[in-house]
Amino acid sequence: MRRKIVAGNWKMNGSKDLVNSLVGQVRSGLASLDNGVEAVIIPPALFVGDVVRQAGDQIAVGVQNIACWDSGAYTGEISAGMAKDSGCDYSLVGHSERRQLFGETDDEVTVKVVKALASGLDAIICVGETLDQREAGKAEDVVSAQVRKAVADVGGGQWQQVVVAYEPVWAIGTGKTATAEDAQAMHGTIRGVLKSLGAPAEEISLLYGGSVKPDNAVALFAQPDIDGGLIGGASLSAEDFMSICRAMP
Ligand code: G3P
Repeated sequence: MRRKIVAGNWKMNGSKDLVNSLVGQVRSGLASLDNGVEAVIIPPALFVGDVVRQAGDQIAVGVQNIACWDSGAYTGEISAGMAKDSGCDYSLVGHSERRQLFGETDDEVTVKVVKALASGLDAIICVGETLDQREAGKAEDVVSAQVRKAVADVGGGQWQQVVVAYEPVWAIGTGKTATAEDAQAMHGTIRGVLKSLGAPAEEISLLYGGSVKPDNAVALFAQPDIDGGLIGGASLSAEDFMSICRAMP
């Protein structure tokens, strides 16, 4: 059964005050929601403990990044095992900001997916093309290659821990959202790649990310291969985040 997931990526935003106000509001909102959506909050790592303590069973928690290693002299890094140990259920892997701003390579993404799954985390694997790549007609090729490389070492029994988030780079934080039709087309391509790799593609949740807001979430989530969203800015508002959760059919 494909999970319907709305995950909020706080990026480097938020505070203990925001955790203390938002998590309770989201819990209350979810208590009256019966559309089966799974809400995930992915705060800066320093706030993971605070979210875990307040999330109860209604909200899953994630980290935005994990190291390529299990432990050792890697100042500033956190491992998948530490995230799991801290109560996390998910890790983002390969977010475009990690790739663009911090030079994260496809090979590192492949390793981080393995580390996440081996530690019992579900991996939300982020893929997406730049505007130049889309305008050059290379979007499908770029995204397909990213998917293939990211899951290259996923073992047969681990596919249920895999989620893929399609985030066109040109839509992130810009207010420009892919049309529901364009997003659906790319999600269909991604599902086709997963199927070609022998994965149980029909069971894998594919999320769209890139300026998802309350006013466009319904159209996006109505698409057959869009199983939820990876939300940035709108996840910092309990009201907007819950509106997006309610948009799930
Ligand atoms: O990971 C989600 C993020 O990249 C999308 O950000 O602000 O466009 O919703 P935003």
